[in-house]
Amino acid sequence: MSSTKASELMAVSLLLLAAALLASREVSAKCTAIGVGRNASFDGSVMLAHTDDAGDGTSDLRLVRVPSMDWPEGSKRPVYPVRNGYPRIVSASRGGEYAPRKNQVETEPLGFIPQVSHTYAYWDQDYGLMNEHQLAVAESTCGARTVAKPLGQDGGQALLDIGELSKIAMERCKTARCAIHLMGSLGVEHGFYAEAIREDSGEALILADALDELWVFHILPTPDGSSAVWAAQRVRDDHAVVIANDFVIQEMDLNDTDTFLFSDNMVDVAVAQGWHNSTTEETFNFFATFGFEKKKYDPVMGLYSGRRMWRVFSLINAEYSETADPYVGFTPSTCESYPFSLAPDEAISLEGLFAILSDHYEGTEFDLTRGLAAGPFGNPNRFEGHQKGTKRLPGGFERPISIYRGTFSFVTQSSSSLPDGVGVAWYGQDQPAGSVWVPVYASQTKVPAEFLWGKQSEFSRASTWWAFNFVNNWMQLGYNKMLGDVQDARAKAQAEIFSVHEKIVAVAKRVPVKSLASYILTRGSSKIITELTVSWWSLSEKLIAKFSNGLITTGEEPGMRVGQGYPNWWLKAVGYTAWPPGPGPAVVTA
Ligand SMILES: *[C@@H]1O[C@H](CO)[C@@H](O)[C@H](O)[C@H]1NC(C)=O
Ligand SMILES: *[C@@H]1O[C@H](CO)[C@@H](O)[C@H](O)[C@H]1NC(C)=O
Ligand SMILES: *[C@@H]1O[C@H](CO)[C@@H](O)[C@H](O)[C@H]1NC(C)=O
Repeated sequence: MSSTKASELMAVSLLLLAAALLASREVSAKCTAIGVGRNASFDGSVMLAHTDDAGDGTSDLRLVRVPSMDWPEGSKRPVYPVRNGYPRIVSASRGGEYAPRKNQVETEPLGFIPQVSHTYAYWDQDYGLMNEHQLAVAESTCGARTVAKPLGQDGGQALLDIGELSKIAMERCKTARCAIHLMGSLGVEHGFYAEAIREDSGEALILADALDELWVFHILPTPDGSSAVWAAQRVRDDHAVVIANDFVIQEMDLNDTDTFLFSDNMVDVAVAQGWHNSTTEETFNFFATFGFEKKKYDPVMGLYSGRRMWRVFSLINAEYSETADPYVGFTPSTCESYPFSLAPDEAISLEGLFAILSDHYEGTEFDLTRGLAAGPFGNPNRFEGHQKGTKRLPGGFERPISIYRGTFSFVTQSSSSLPDGVGVAWYGQDQPAGSVWVPVYASQTKVPAEFLWGKQSEFSRASTWWAFNFVNNWMQLGYNKMLGDVQDARAKAQAEIFSVHEKIVAVAKRVPVKSLASYILTRGSSKIITELTVSWWSLSEKLIAKFSNGLITTGEEPGMRVGQGYPNWWLKAVGYTAWPPGPGPAVVTA
């Protein structure tokens, strides 16, 4: 084969590889995770925030309470494969909500690990969320230089994904350190896998606990796909951290075991791969060593993580927003571009985190409510990619924190100053920008039916998710026309929920009997969920009547149904002022 032929072939296969990577980018789930230390939060609690931004493929919408359980000696814990859509799993081993109904058959496990004698109760969705001891996690998928496949798939050898690891941590641990050591050692022993593409083949969690500690955990497969490499870094109490689909642990002081934890094989694996020179290097940079250089095949991807990190840090720290460069991106080769964590100017409140989760870069040069792509009514939603079956154009849109495919989001609060049962996950359905967050408590035993509708393929008026999803979609008919009404409704509902929450917690804290406190919290949260769902459907009906057919209708009197027209900048941009086209109206001659 001639060398030109060979290099042509090489070029073609590189292009195909790039095309495959680009195509896969459109289907992967991508999430943003934020952590806030106890001295950086408004009330001394450690807070986590997460947006769940599922991609193609449906998600099981249920927020499920897995009860605490006792297990006879010699029990095995089934480990299930990753599955999109409803039902996430069918298994009697995870309590009543997941137990088989009617025609359902139990999910086939990938394998088993030994069970412990007692497992804790926790809130579960695709990942564990918070357990009865206030251990909480927030997740973000990361690029990694290694990939692995699950057992049973093309010679795959790995048993555990991050979903199952996080759930096992919820079942067995009270603290972030316990969770990190447990998840890490299980990954090393049984193998860890994520997506089979490097862009998504690693995982990160932020963990918070009732010792008021905040930790970041990273895990990726070993190069042979049979084990795992992991590391963790404690976040300073007065700092906040953000993960936006890339590892954030950078320089590690391997002697500082109060701050850094890692697998025994970490340095050896890096040295064996030629990614690290143990003899010549004093320090170890986790992201530079194990992160995947996304920028190599697509310049846009270099900004996919960096832009959101820049935005979160800019929103909490004014000096940072003036000095940081939003254009460098965050990649293994531009590692130092963004810090691991940053101190906020002011203590971060719940409202502050909800606003960050709802962000579309409003007011910045990347503002998605502006420009031709936002249409005449400032719609910040950008569907991804190009039409299937057509040539992919180079380029992209900004990736906001609140994205059109956002399925749910939450903010958790864990604190040593609270009874464990009162730890709280503020849970918001559908895209954060249109969401209202309700408290779900660590010792609450169930949620009402409105939070247990599982299907995205079937509309239901009995579902909170569908109420919020409907309003978010209806807004797209005229986003900024409806924005004021929706923002007012959100603010009013959230304020009411805060005040009810305070009352519920005040009562629950005074009750000496744990089970009674749990009953009060369960009833209080359930009532909030049911009332919010009713009020959001009622908002949707008001919006339907008020904003149909491009008109705004506010009553039956004259002048109460009026057209809004289009803004002039948009009319000019779409050729309105160039009408009529061609040589002018035809002259009809007899
Ligand atoms: C952080 O908060 C704790 C109490 O919540 C306090 O004891 C400690 O001194 C604070 N640390 C700093 C650096 O402010
Ligand atoms: C770690 O500690 C050992 C012995 O205390 C010392 O020789 C070594 O230089 C230290 N390494 C780093 C990276 O600080
Ligand atoms: C290891 O050291 C060699 C020789 O100094 C250098 O060429 C190489 O780039 C280094 N590798 C890494 C991963 O730093």
